[in-house]
Amino acid sequence: MKRMLSGVTVIMMAALASPAHAADGKTVYGAACALCHTTGAMNAPKTGDKAVWAARIKKGMDVLYENSIKGINAMPAKGGKAQFSDAEIKAAVDYMITQSK
Ligand code: HEC
Repeated sequence: MKRMLSGVTVIMMAALASPAHAADGKTVYGAACALCHTTGAMNAPKTGDKAVWAARIKKGMDVLYENSIKGINAMPAKGGKAQFSDAEIKAAVDYMITQSK
C-alpha cells in the first residue's frame, strides 16, 4: 500500500512539472509579450534595454506584476492574452527583467 501511494505521488509531481500545466516565463514571453517588448512597438520598453528598465524596476516587482496583469496605458492587460494565468504572466515579467538588468 505504501508503495502504491508513493507511485501516485511521483505521477502527480510529474504532472505538475509538465510544461503543459503552466507555461514557463520564456514561453509566455514569446507568446504574449515579444510582439511589443522585443521590437519596442508602441513605445513598449524594450527587453534588454537596461537604461529604460532601471527606472521601471525601481517601482518594485509588485507594481510591475500588477501593471502587466491589469494593463497600463498602451500595454494591454496580460499582453492581450487572457488565457495565461496571473502566475504565468508574473513568470514572463521575471523573464523580461532578468534579461534587462
Ligand atoms: C500591444 C503591445 C504590448 C504587449 C503585447 C505587451 N506589452 Fe508590456 N508594455 C507595452 C507598453 C506600450 C508599455 C509601456 C506602458 C507605459 O508605461 O506607458 C508596457 C509596459 C510594460 C511593463 C512595465 C510596466 C510599468 O509599470 O512600468 C511591464 C512589466 C510589461 N509591459 C510586461 C509585459 C508582459 C509580461 C507582457 C506579456 C504578457 C507584455 N508586457 C505584453 C506594450 C505591450
